[in-house]
Amino acid sequence: MTRLTVNGQPVHYKMAPETPLLWALRDASNLTGAKYGCGTGECGACTVHVDGKAMQACVITLAEAEGTFVTTIEGLGHDRNHPVQQAWIAENLPQCGFCQPGMVMAAAALLTKTKSPSDDEIASAITNICRCGTYPRIHAAIRRAARMANGGERIDAAPPANVSADDAADAVPALRAIDSKKLSER
Ligand code: FES
Ligand code: FES
Repeated sequence: MTRLTVNGQPVHYKMAPETPLLWALRDASNLTGAKYGCGTGECGACTVHVDGKAMQACVITLAEAEGTFVTTIEGLGHDRNHPVQQAWIAENLPQCGFCQPGMVMAAAALLTKTKSPSDDEIASAITNICRCGTYPRIHAAIRRAARMANGGERIDAAPPANVSADDAADAVPALRAIDSKKLSER
């Protein structure tokens, strides 16, 4: 049995110790944000944080993850309020979306250790592969997230931290639920 902490919750995995962490997260914990791409540690689609560092969950075994604190995209921010998530939304970044959870996790780890990364620092830290070629927008979003995290920019369309979905809908009219009664009257 492997014990670790996933998104703040203690978890015991009754899986073989050589099982990749990615399978435990996806199959046992139903945390399917981290994706399976190459399975060889090269594409970054499976990136999660292990003790705060961006790591490829497809090449870490449960035995190696024993006792660590793992964060997945599902645990990164409440209500998608992490600066990287807000900048991603503001830049309308994803295309097919497959690589994006790993990109977000890699970007969030970068900003934890480098407050205002240069383009060169972004390029060397974010080695994840995007088959849709969103790289220019990824660089722009990381620079924007850094400005937000440092207090230099606020994205008005994004709900601030700890705002409920209903309150967010009041603050952002485009998010309001469609009134089905009015629709049926049309
Ligand atoms: S699936 Fe893990 S790096 Fe590609
Ligand atoms: S958005 Fe499609 S793979 Fe990156």
